[in-house]
This record gives sequence, structure tokens and C-alpha cells, in this order.
Amino acid sequence: MQNYRLLVVRDKDLRKQIRAAAWDQEQVTDASVLFILCADLNAHNADPEEYWGHAPEDIQNILGPMIKPIYEGNDELIRDEANRSTAFAGMTLMLAARELGYDSCPMIGFDKEAVSKLINLPDGMMLGFMIPVGEQSKAAWARGPRLSDKKLVFHDRF
Ligand SMILES: Cc1cc2nc3c(=O)[nH]c(=O)nc-3n(C[C@H](O)[C@H](O)[C@H](O)COP(=O)(O)O)c2cc1C
Repeated sequence: MQNYRLLVVRDKDLRKQIRAAAWDQEQVTDASVLFILCADLNAHNADPEEYWGHAPEDIQNILGPMIKPIYEGNDELIRDEANRSTAFAGMTLMLAARELGYDSCPMIGFDKEAVSKLINLPDGMMLGFMIPVGEQSKAAWARGPRLSDKKLVFHDRF
């Protein structure tokens, strides 16, 4: 459904206000660009033609009518999907930035309500998280220890 939405924030004054709502974290104003990852919680109501229009007709006929009934009224699934999509989009964005030689920092350290107001987040849109991207000005904090595979990876069943 391509339910993720990417807000690119370059306005300096707006960035100052967002920083104030983000525990004064300097990367909010100092990074070259600030991305805010959002998702349209009504994406399942869009015309499937928009995202399946390229598929062979028999596939369109199967998948197109499936989307709306799967999501409609299922707020948990809609939100799961929004979080999945923004997470995939954000990770891809961070990997792409790295590939281009930039650093980034996924952030949830901000007042969601205040930032939503500042960016005029429309009704029916979810604010996921923010990612400032730019050239690193100081080294990141040392990486925390990684959990062992034993703790993270399971086989066949829990
Ligand atoms: C959901 C989430 C929210 C985060 N929020 C912030 C934040 O508000 N400010 C910040 O400087 N870093 C934030 N971080 C970044 C982490 O502090 C850490 O630098 C980053 O996850 C790097 O992790 P790594 O050790 O796995 O590479 C956040 C990370 C995640 C995953």
C-alpha cells in the first residue's frame, strides 16, 4: 500500500521549534536534513490501482479487492503495518545515507504531540520517528554490548 510518508524538514525555524520539543537534542537543528517518518492510517482506502496498477490483470483482480477488507476496522493491524512500513523505510534511508557517506540517528526522544502540532500532522496520519541525516560532527557513544545469539535466535519453535 506504500502507506509510509516521508516529511523532509529543512525550514530552520521549524527545526529550532522541533529541537525544543526533543529535549534540546542538537542533531535536530544541526543535521543537514531532518526526516520525519509517518504513515497514512487510511492507506487501505486508496484505490488499489495506485499501487497494483502495474500488475497483470488476474493478479490485480485477486489482490486489489483483498486489501480493504483485511485492514478495515482492524486498528491493531493498521498500526502494526504503519510501524512495519516506517521502520523498513527508515532503515533503508539510514543504509542509503551511510552508503553516501552520511550518518544518521533514529530518534523517538521527542514530545510526539508537540511535534505533531508543529508539522501539522493530518488526522489519520501516524508519526513514527525522526531521522536526522548529515555529516558526523562527533563520535557516537560507544555501542552497547550485543545480546548473544542464544538470547536472540531460536529454531523452529520457542
Ligand atoms: C527507537 C529508537 C529511538 C532513539 N531515539 C534517540 C534519540 O532520541 N536521540 C538519540 O540521540 N538517539 C536515539 N536513538 C539512537 C540510539 O541511542 C543509538 O545510538 C542507536 O540505536 C545506535 O544503536 P546501535 O548501538 O545498535 O548501533 C534511538 C534509537 C532507537 C532505535
